[in-house]
Amino acid sequence: MKLTERIRYVGLNDRQTVLFENQWPIPEGVSYNSYLVVDEKVALIDTAAAAFGDAYLENIRREIGDRPVDYLIVNHMEPDHSALQARIRAQYPDVTIVTNAKAVPMIAGFQGITENIRVIKEGENLPLGETSLQFFMAPMVHWPETMVTWCAEEQTLFSGDAFGTFKAVNNNVIDSESNDYESYKEEMTRYYASIVGKYGATVQNALKKLSGLPIKRICSTHGPVWERDIPQVVALYDRLSRYDADPGVVIAYGSMYGNTAKAARALADALESAKIPYALHDLCSENVSYALRDVFRYETLVLGAPTYNNGIFPPVRQLMEAVCDRLVKNRRFFAFGSFTWAGASVRLLNEMAKSAGMELIGDGISFQHAYSPDKCDFGDLLHNLYYVK
Ligand code: FEO
Repeated sequence: MKLTERIRYVGLNDRQTVLFENQWPIPEGVSYNSYLVVDEKVALIDTAAAAFGDAYLENIRREIGDRPVDYLIVNHMEPDHSALQARIRAQYPDVTIVTNAKAVPMIAGFQGITENIRVIKEGENLPLGETSLQFFMAPMVHWPETMVTWCAEEQTLFSGDAFGTFKAVNNNVIDSESNDYESYKEEMTRYYASIVGKYGATVQNALKKLSGLPIKRICSTHGPVWERDIPQVVALYDRLSRYDADPGVVIAYGSMYGNTAKAARALADALESAKIPYALHDLCSENVSYALRDVFRYETLVLGAPTYNNGIFPPVRQLMEAVCDRLVKNRRFFAFGSFTWAGASVRLLNEMAKSAGMELIGDGISFQHAYSPDKCDFGDLLHNLYYVK
């Protein structure tokens, strides 16, 4: 597929995989994007996932016929983009792999390739003819070897996972009515929170490094090619990587016999009445990534967990660990939950929140046995949310 006369899309949609990284549901699929720059030399930028080798090679042949691929640019070694390197080498035996020093042992380790690898440095240029490629390191966006590739003549940034998103692409891959930012925003946020969320500081570094480039087109490894919607997409990544959030509350809970769930719904009803934006997540019936997405969206996190084995009910502990692991900043926190003979979950959640630098909005509410509104009164919490009059 032609993006320009010189830049071609040779990626694929994956609508079969249930869990991305075997962790994150992708009900709307995902795309593995790969690109050709066709000039006197032909450069292929990243590859795709292992299951799609035949279709991928056919996409390349459709664009360049019998011409060989001269360079395989390796921006990122996670196997959703690197799994077909050995097949590319088998198909095009003279192809030179172009990458940075950190990727070299990964290429050997994952693909068994050690020959004909050109190691480039920060800012180095690779001439292709009328066009050239320039390389900038972007470590930890999302692995240590990650780099991005800039084609100045086409004003195109091949950004790796940065600016990527879950959700397969429709028809023409360029952002358009069928691939617009608004229809990807939720899944882009969930992708960021799940995959890249820990690396806010390094995403900020990369954004600063790339801010001077006159970018007309962003070709990431997942989701649409961004042209029209670049300002919104860059603004979202900037905001997410600064851990900025909107006024609002994420209530996420787990419940064994329905008592903590009743408390969670009572709080949701109260927020609804007060017209406070909120999201309610039952962590026992949905993947943690949906609540995690909303942790990146709203500034207040309220967790409901019964005490279980003198600890935090495991589905809620999983979310709290995911939040702490992602170094989420600037959040306020409140915990509640039921217990039968000894309460521990609220205290332990509060300790985790304090260690993570969150601001506690109160001591939390730990209630014994069945839920009732008098045992679990959210009045103080509602009062303390600054946007409640
Ligand atoms: Fe899409 Fe970090 O790989």
